[in-house]
Amino acid sequence: MQAPQAPKIHSPKIFAITNQKGGVGKTTTAVNLATAFSALGHRVLLVDIDPQGNAGTGLGLKRANIKSSIYDVLFGRATANEAAMRTKLPRLNIIPSSVHLAGADVELSSVIGREARLKEALEECHNNYDYIFIDCPPSLNFLTINALVAAQAIIVPLQCEFYALEGLSQLTKTVKLVKKHYNAALDIHGIVLTMYDRRNRITKLVDEDVREYFKNKVYNTTIPRNVRLSEAPSYGLPGIVYDMKSAGAQAYIKLAREILSKDNKPLSGSSKPSNNDVTQKEQTEVA
Ligand SMILES: Nc1ncnc2c1ncn2[C@@H]1O[C@H](COP(=O)(O)OP(=O)(O)OP(=O)(O)O)[C@@H](O)[C@H]1O
Ligand SMILES: [Mg+2]
Repeated sequence: MQAPQAPKIHSPKIFAITNQKGGVGKTTTAVNLATAFSALGHRVLLVDIDPQGNAGTGLGLKRANIKSSIYDVLFGRATANEAAMRTKLPRLNIIPSSVHLAGADVELSSVIGREARLKEALEECHNNYDYIFIDCPPSLNFLTINALVAAQAIIVPLQCEFYALEGLSQLTKTVKLVKKHYNAALDIHGIVLTMYDRRNRITKLVDEDVREYFKNKVYNTTIPRNVRLSEAPSYGLPGIVYDMKSAGAQAYIKLAREILSKDNKPLSGSSKPSNNDVTQKEQTEVA
């Protein structure tokens, strides 16, 4: 008789989308990358740990339909699988946020092992996903630390504006501390320049500065300032579904491909073709 095989352990790649600066495009990046990855055939979970709950809104989630949130998961009242909700898009689930998260920082401060709550909670659902994206709040609080402890890699959206680089040194210091104490594997996967406007002198200056300092950590793909991306959340749709042909949507699809190729991963999951037609199909399915 053959010895029973040990169950195959699958670990999804976990990205935290973070920058403590507000309004730089974290949620837009999280929602559109998660959608692009799922459209390319991967099983994706988007985790919204920002009390503002914008990722859920951007995917058309209705508050009334939310039974459990990431707040319940962090405090052991629901498992990650119980809290994960289907979205309108195949292969894309979301664990929604809750307004209660706003107080979680203080509540977590008295909990033992508080920095690793999210990491431990997500382990239960590892087998169900190829990629997990965590949309962080605009601060370096316990919620963000939880995301950095749970993640293997960070994606930093950086808006091309005058003070763009100001917060980056604090973020890199925090990453070093998290690496040292909790998560040695953590790495900055890349910095993505958002709301990019080629005609603007500041955009050019920020681009040059950030590439000089962070070198190949800056993605080649930039996300243009694009009105279709900002309209999409009010229709409860990711930009790449709302208007796939828009410059913003195309940029996020390109960024998804760049991220995948940087990891030398195949551009598609096992069963789906990897081209923009998938996104076209998604668009049709949602419409
Ligand atoms: N490339 C873009 N072009 C035009 N508008 C954009 C673009 N990216 C984001 N926006 C808009 O800018 C605003 C801020 O974007 P977003 O919510 O993604 O930022 P954020 O970093 O998640 O903000 P917060 O820190 O509050 O969570 C939103 O109104 C969004 O629709
Ligand atoms: Mg946000």
